[in-house]
Amino acid sequence: MTKMEKIEPNHVAIIMDGNGRWAQQRGKPRLFGHHAGVKRVREIVECCPDYGVKYLTIFAFSTENWKRTQAEVAGLMRLFRRYIEREARALLEDGVRVRFIGDRIKLDEKLVALMDNLELLTAGNDKVHLTIALNYGGRDEVTRAAKRLAYEVEQGRLSHNDVDAETLSGFLDTHVLPDPDLVIRTSGEARISNFLLWQSAYAEYEFTPILWPDFCADDFGEIVSSYGSRERRFGAVIA
Ligand code: FPP
Repeated sequence: MTKMEKIEPNHVAIIMDGNGRWAQQRGKPRLFGHHAGVKRVREIVECCPDYGVKYLTIFAFSTENWKRTQAEVAGLMRLFRRYIEREARALLEDGVRVRFIGDRIKLDEKLVALMDNLELLTAGNDKVHLTIALNYGGRDEVTRAAKRLAYEVEQGRLSHNDVDAETLSGFLDTHVLPDPDLVIRTSGEARISNFLLWQSAYAEYEFTPILWPDFCADDFGEIVSSYGSRERRFGAVIA
């Protein structure tokens, strides 16, 4: 790739932050902001093909989000169930393949069944690959992968000499996905918050002050377009 070549990111990952503040600014409960956030999820998924984005990964609920009030956690879980129930048909018809990453063990059975069904239902799609991170944490994911890897060694199916970055990647939740090229965080916070730690080793980051419920397709398009003029070196020197 030469310096001037314009390219679109194949995989964009988003930390959707600012729902709570957006609601508070309107004197409404935090869940009001999360509901508004769902509409933006729909809009951003729909616009991905316009910007050449094939893979979109969104951070919906982190392993740390259980520390929120019981009412907010329950409201978010209800919202995820409703999202799947209401959007499944449209996602299928729009050619979106949905996957979930994160540890399902702590999620309620009904939600997990809906997640499994949606993955199966959309498995034949290839227009946009939407990955929803739910009860996801980067350290937790790497820890679970290391545990499974250790088990394979213990069982004699792998030697410790087989363990390299590629082998470990194969045990991550994201093993079928390419690494993200661009990670966007909304709401003005410049933190990674345990999102795709391993996978983002060479990603570009973009932090925007816009709160997630205000983040529209045009904002996404602007960031994706500016990515095209960045120079990525992957540690190498480009003449
Ligand atoms: C962070 O904002 C947002 C979340 C923890 C939830 C993200 C969920 C959605 C956008 C709902 C839609 C998702 C799907 C998959 C349907 P915050 O609450 O931390 O905001 P704050 O920093 O202003 O308090």
